[in-house]
Amino acid sequence: MRIYDSLNLIEISKDNLLFNFDYFSKFGRVWPVLKSNAYGHGIKQVVEILKERDFEYLVVDGYQEVLEIRKVTKRPVLMIGSILPSNFSKIKWKNLAIMVQDKESIRALGKLNKHIKIHLKVNTGMNRQGIDLDEMKKTIKLIKKYPKLEWEGMFSHLAGVDDEKQIKKFEEIKKITGEVKYFHLGATNGVGDIIRLGIGLYGIGKGLKPVLKLKSKIVKVRQIEKGEKVSYGGTFVTTKKTNIGVIPIGYFEGLDRRLSNKKGIVKYKNKFYQIAGRVCMNMVVVNFGKTKPKLYDEVELVGVEKMAKISETIPYDILVGINDSVRRTIV
Ligand SMILES: Cc1ncc(COP(=O)(O)O)c(C=O)c1O
Repeated sequence: MRIYDSLNLIEISKDNLLFNFDYFSKFGRVWPVLKSNAYGHGIKQVVEILKERDFEYLVVDGYQEVLEIRKVTKRPVLMIGSILPSNFSKIKWKNLAIMVQDKESIRALGKLNKHIKIHLKVNTGMNRQGIDLDEMKKTIKLIKKYPKLEWEGMFSHLAGVDDEKQIKKFEEIKKITGEVKYFHLGATNGVGDIIRLGIGLYGIGKGLKPVLKLKSKIVKVRQIEKGEKVSYGGTFVTTKKTNIGVIPIGYFEGLDRRLSNKKGIVKYKNKFYQIAGRVCMNMVVVNFGKTKPKLYDEVELVGVEKMAKISETIPYDILVGINDSVRRTIV
């Protein structure tokens, strides 16, 4: 069956994703982080590509993502987000590990009397997730009450300030803990021998290759006179006769509203054109100036890092803001 043609398309570069994976593999064992729809890239597509590589775990936030992954592979997954204990009995625990950070969860998991792998998270200074140091002994004792729980991992996460302090604390924790299969602290920042690789996998950072390309098509062209206003609120006003075009991608699809009136994002036939006026919910108007664009020609929306900079946010925010409804395809 011929599939429906889409106006907007995300191309996921297999070569670039594997390049980034291999790059980080030189520094440690890579555990790809696939939460938030694989940082907006499409969880199924990314898992499909990663089938070609070895790793001990895929890392996600919660069980919904595990179910998506299971459509593609049975490989081990680690869930690092919070899950209501009332859901534990509904989960298929084969090839699955879970982050724990409270006694309630440990008891609820233990009572299931099933073989479940747990990774205990400790707070080394970020003060977000994890048990505190003074809870360690009691928590370990509690885990050991349930022989079917496999205490496999011990981990923490760096806040990006005072990292040295956090690393030192983690080293101290290792000494208290004793034998555990996996200690993991690092992310793209590359600390330690296990790298929970998020943003770097997707090619954001020096020496890496961006994985995602966002494309759309021009769905309306017109020429307007000098002094005409464009889009909501008329924040763009023409100073001469101008060609404009509409692209069916707005802030719902993931084009940040702060890109309204900005240059350097929309690329058409190797030249950049300014966004004309406010980004709308499902579309945006482009100032093509003297260039007369052709209806249904392709444009590219360029640069996650550039978009983040203009929008005064971080690439993570731009990436995860790309709506699931936009078709992803592996190239
Ligand atoms: C616990 C944990 N590990 C790893 C990552 C991946 O971080 P990065 O995208 O910086 O590699 C995150 C991201 O939020 C995280 O919360």
